[in-house]
Amino acid sequence: MSVEKHIAVAIDGPAASGKSTVAKIVAKRLGLIMVNTGAMYRAVAWATIRDGVDVDDASAVVEMLDNVVFSCGVEDGLSTILVDGFYPGEELRQNGVNQRVSGVAAIPEVRALLVDKQREYLKLGSVVMEGRDIGSVVFPNTPFKVYIDASEEVRLARRSAEGLNDAVAKRDAEDSKRKISPLKVADGAVVIDSSEMGIEEVVDAVMQVLRDKGAPAEIFG
Ligand code: CDP
Repeated sequence: MSVEKHIAVAIDGPAASGKSTVAKIVAKRLGLIMVNTGAMYRAVAWATIRDGVDVDDASAVVEMLDNVVFSCGVEDGLSTILVDGFYPGEELRQNGVNQRVSGVAAIPEVRALLVDKQREYLKLGSVVMEGRDIGSVVFPNTPFKVYIDASEEVRLARRSAEGLNDAVAKRDAEDSKRKISPLKVADGAVVIDSSEMGIEEVVDAVMQVLRDKGAPAEIFG
């Protein structure tokens, strides 16, 4: 497929709604690249901890961006991010990162840098990209947009089942109320409430959206 034929499947939704799991399965099934944009914002938050940068001081964070190299790539069909050549791995899910990431993600310069990197992925191939603003800002023209939701109760239960302590409601509130690229249902996105659905059901629902919206037959193999 030529670059113009590459498609972007945008999957947005609140914290712990199951986006990443679903995006990974859909991407694997269709042979597309799965891009986890949350990991990119988490990597910036992680770097502020490493460098002792105060996230409430936006100009200090912006200055840090000039001195740190964030490199995005793909490994086994999944996006990767290195910070000055180092892969922070599981440290991206640590509590300090959870607490800082929404603040960092509200800084326009951080978003501008990462959105550019996210759009670059489409040059490599078709993508399933998950985040908060993929259907609204990163790829507003893609017809393939879903918003995966789940009740707060279900999302909290999913996080604690992973053994993680994450104030999802607080993060959602911050992500939804920020001025730039807030978490919202993008124009034309199909909302899937996954509260009472298993992962496979959600995957099927996403596949159905792709078919309904006219995804090219080639991507279904
Ligand atoms: O923990 P969960 O998988 O739900 O979140 P994530 O996808 O890892 O995203 C972590 C944080 O990054 C979010 O709470 C947002 O503040 C920010 N984010 C964003 O602003 N825009 C995106 N496209 C993706 C994440």
